[in-house]
Amino acid sequence: MSSSATVVADPLARIGRINAEHYSHFIEHLGECVYDGIWVGPDSPIPNTDGIRQFTIEALKAVGPAVFRWPGGCFADHYHWRDGIGDPTSRPRTRNIFWGGTESNRFGTHEFIDFCRKIDAIPYICGNVGTGSPQEMMDWLEYCNGDSDLTIVDQRLANGEAAPLGIKYWGVGNENWGCGGNMRPGEYAAKYRNYVTYLARMNLGVQLIAVGHDAAWNRELLRALAGARFLPRLQALSIHRYFSLERQAFNYDESEYHDLITEAHVLEDDIAQADGILKNYEDPAHPVGLIVDEWGLWDRGHATPESGLRQANSLRDAVVAATSLDIFTARADRVTMTNIAQTINVLQCLIETRGPDAWLTPTYHVYRFYREHIGHDSLATHVDSADLGVQSGTGRPVSQLSASTSLSEDGSRVSFAVTNRHYSESVECTLRLPEKTLGDASARLLAGDEAMSANSASSPDTVTPTDLTVRSNNGALTIQLPPHSIAMLTAGVT
Ligand code: AHR
Repeated sequence: MSSSATVVADPLARIGRINAEHYSHFIEHLGECVYDGIWVGPDSPIPNTDGIRQFTIEALKAVGPAVFRWPGGCFADHYHWRDGIGDPTSRPRTRNIFWGGTESNRFGTHEFIDFCRKIDAIPYICGNVGTGSPQEMMDWLEYCNGDSDLTIVDQRLANGEAAPLGIKYWGVGNENWGCGGNMRPGEYAAKYRNYVTYLARMNLGVQLIAVGHDAAWNRELLRALAGARFLPRLQALSIHRYFSLERQAFNYDESEYHDLITEAHVLEDDIAQADGILKNYEDPAHPVGLIVDEWGLWDRGHATPESGLRQANSLRDAVVAATSLDIFTARADRVTMTNIAQTINVLQCLIETRGPDAWLTPTYHVYRFYREHIGHDSLATHVDSADLGVQSGTGRPVSQLSASTSLSEDGSRVSFAVTNRHYSESVECTLRLPEKTLGDASARLLAGDEAMSANSASSPDTVTPTDLTVRSNNGALTIQLPPHSIAMLTAGVT
C-alpha cells in the first residue's frame, strides 16, 4: 500500500544555524567503546594509526565534523585525569566502578586529543564532581588550555603538546542526580557554584556545562543559581534521555514498532520543558544553550553492564535516530548540541567491532545523511501525511513522515531529510518551498527489506545507502519512500 504526503518548508522562517555540535557523539570508558572500538594499541595486528583503529578513524572522518564527549558518563565522576597522562607503562590500573573491570588508563587526555585530531572532531571533556575537587578540574583545564609560565603547562609540553589544546567544552559533572553522587538539586547547585567560581576566573575561554535533569531538578537548580547571581555564567544546561527501555531489537510486531517510534517524541517534551524553565530565569540577552549530551535507544534486556551495554542495531534504530535528529533540528533555536550514546559498540552505536572485524550500523548512515544540514539554517517545516495511529506521551498524534529542512545562508541550496516511519506502507512525498523553484536535485535512500534489517561482520552492507530517483513537478520535487526508510535530498533553489 502507498499513500501520499507533502513536506513544505518556509524559507523565511529560519530557526537557527545548524552546527557540527548538533549531530555529535559521546564516548565512555565502558564495555568496548574506548578499548577495542577506538584504542587497539600501536602493536595490535588490527590496522591502526598510533594505536587508534583505522576503520574507526576513516568511518568517523567520513561522517563529518562533530563534538566527542569523553570520558563519561558515570565513569567521569570517578576518573582522575592525572592517571591517564605520562609514560603509559607507569600509569596506574584503577577500578571501573560502574562498568566493571580494570581501567588501564592507556587512553587518556593525549590519546583523546589525538583521536579527535585524526577525525577532525571537537573535544568535550566531562569533569569529575562526584569524587573530584574544583582544584583537580582547574588543574586539568590549566594542563590542557593554559599558556602561562606554569609548572603544569611545562608538564604538558614534556608530554609532547607545546601549544594549548584549546578545549572549549567542559562539563561540570555528569548525572550528579544519580551516578555522579546522588545529589539533590540544591547540593549540586552548591557544587556547581563552587566549581564555577574558580573555573570561570581562569579566563581560558571555555564553555561550562551544568548538569540538568527533569523539570523539578532544572527549576530548583536555576532558582538556586539565579538567587546567587550565577545565572549569567551558565552557558549551557545538559539533559539526558534514553528511550524504549523494555523493547527488544528483533522481537516486535507492527503496533509495537509504531509505539516505539513514538517514544522518541518524548524529546520534544523534554526540550519544551527545559526551554520554558530556562526562559523564566535567563537574561534574554544571554540565552542558555540546551545540550542533550546523552540520548538514544537502550534495550535494557540485553545492554547490561555485564554485556558492556552492547545491543543489536537495526534499521528501526536508524528511523528513531532520524526522528530524533529532526526534533533537535526543529529546536535549533534552543538546542546547541546533542550527543548520541555511544559511538562504538555501546547502546545505539554507529560502529560495531568484534576483534579484527568492524562494520557500520544503520544509525551511522543517518549521521552521514545529516551532515548535509550542517552550516545551513534550520527551517520551519510542515509535514502533511497520514498518522501512524499512535499518540505521543502528551497525546499528540504521530505522523507517518518525519522531516527536517535546512537552507544555505544565501538561500541557494536546500536539504530535506525525510523519513517514512511506517512499518509496512510506502509513501509518495512531494517537497516544496513556497514561491520557490527546486531543481538540480540529488537524493540518497537508506532502506531495507524489514525494520529488523541489520548489518554484521559477515554482511556489512545489508543496510547501506543507495541513490534515490527525484522527479521534478512544477517547481516541487517528488520522491518515493519505502516503509521504514530515510532519505536525504539536496536541491538548488531559485
Ligand atoms: O551511557 C551509559 C550511561 O547512561 C552513562 O554512563 C550515564 O551517564 C547514563 O546513565
